[in-house]
Amino acid sequence: ISLVEQQVDPFSLVSDELSLIGDRLRDMAAIDEVPKLSLAAEYFFELGVEGKRFRSTVLLLMASALNGSLPWSVPDVVTNISNDLRRRQQRMAEITEMIHVASLLHDDVLDDADTRRGVASVNYCMGNKLSVLAGDFLLSRACVALASLNNIEVVTLTATIIEHLVTGETIQMASTPEQRCSMDQYMKKTFYKTASLIANSCKAIALLADQSNEVAMVAYNYGRNLGLAFQLIDDILDFTGTSASLGKGSLSDIRHGIITAPILFAVEEFPQLREIIYRSFEDPVYVQLALDYLGKSSGIQRATELAIEHANLAASAIDSLPQSVDANVIKSRRALVDLTHIVITRTK
Ligand code: FPP
Ligand code: FPP
Ligand code: MG
Ligand code: MG
Repeated sequence: ISLVEQQVDPFSLVSDELSLIGDRLRDMAAIDEVPKLSLAAEYFFELGVEGKRFRSTVLLLMASALNGSLPWSVPDVVTNISNDLRRRQQRMAEITEMIHVASLLHDDVLDDADTRRGVASVNYCMGNKLSVLAGDFLLSRACVALASLNNIEVVTLTATIIEHLVTGETIQMASTPEQRCSMDQYMKKTFYKTASLIANSCKAIALLADQSNEVAMVAYNYGRNLGLAFQLIDDILDFTGTSASLGKGSLSDIRHGIITAPILFAVEEFPQLREIIYRSFEDPVYVQLALDYLGKSSGIQRATELAIEHANLAASAIDSLPQSVDANVIKSRRALVDLTHIVITRTK
């Protein structure tokens, strides 16, 4: 009972494994023949700039949360099989982090960002060209790691993740003013650009463990809703956070003409805002005008409520898993539910 009640920090449950994964990521990003490329590719795997490592944490906890008792009785066999499975699931977490960092390297070029994770971005200190190439390089190393998993379904899921990142980013870049004002379009883009990565990699964790399709879909839905909540909060923080606490610029979305949930809700209350959105936000006067409307509206509050709704859906996905009496499974599920709270209360 005390296990169920006790609140444990989800990150601390997997911290040993996270540092193992960190070591492997640094190895996988290294290429002796081309030191410059190595430097750029390893940059965000270095200690201190590894980011929140949300994705690996979720994936490792998901791996533990889905562990059933194996149908073998010889302890050695069970241990070997479960060690091998765990190693493969860790590998999936490594692949996910590599794809994530590759997308950040490209993203900072597209957004012309000069900081990331509180330090100078790779494009800022080494240039756009190297930043793009380092991203491509990480993707290729992720492909090699993926091949080693020897699982076609997981390959397909991972290819879909990359496709979604690219399509999400392109939707964001190339939408008409009408599309930019559409909540549907915003949620679609948010799924592609943010939630698909975590949804599909959670599903991959389940498939690697030979779980049923139903359980794989529960894992997927957890990741999907957690990812949506995460991005909604990210978009809110772009208005409410400070550059210092975020480690990246604030108000950067609206200044780039990217319309997110808080503004979309504000438009419903103040249709005049639509006219402003149709213009470009290159003129700071319009940015300020939009911010004034946002302040008068309940945009931030409604976006927060939507994030909470998705966080709750993620939590109920975990609750719908087949019951288990395994203490470790229970603890991991509890941590996954706790993460849904952490995502919506985070300030950076
Ligand atoms: C920066 O990621 C990227 C975004 C803000 C968009 C994508 C976000 C996700 C895919 C998160 C979804 C994952 C979970 C577990 C809900 P970041 O803020 O995570 O950056 P970091 O790696 O530098 O911490
Ligand atoms: C962060 O968004 C960016 C993403 C979540 C994905 C970016 C995807 C690409 C650039 C496509 C290329 C993909 C690969 C796999 C190489 P943001 O700019 O809203 O967040 P930020 O504030 O963290 O920069
Ligand atoms: Mg960006
Ligand atoms: Mg971007």
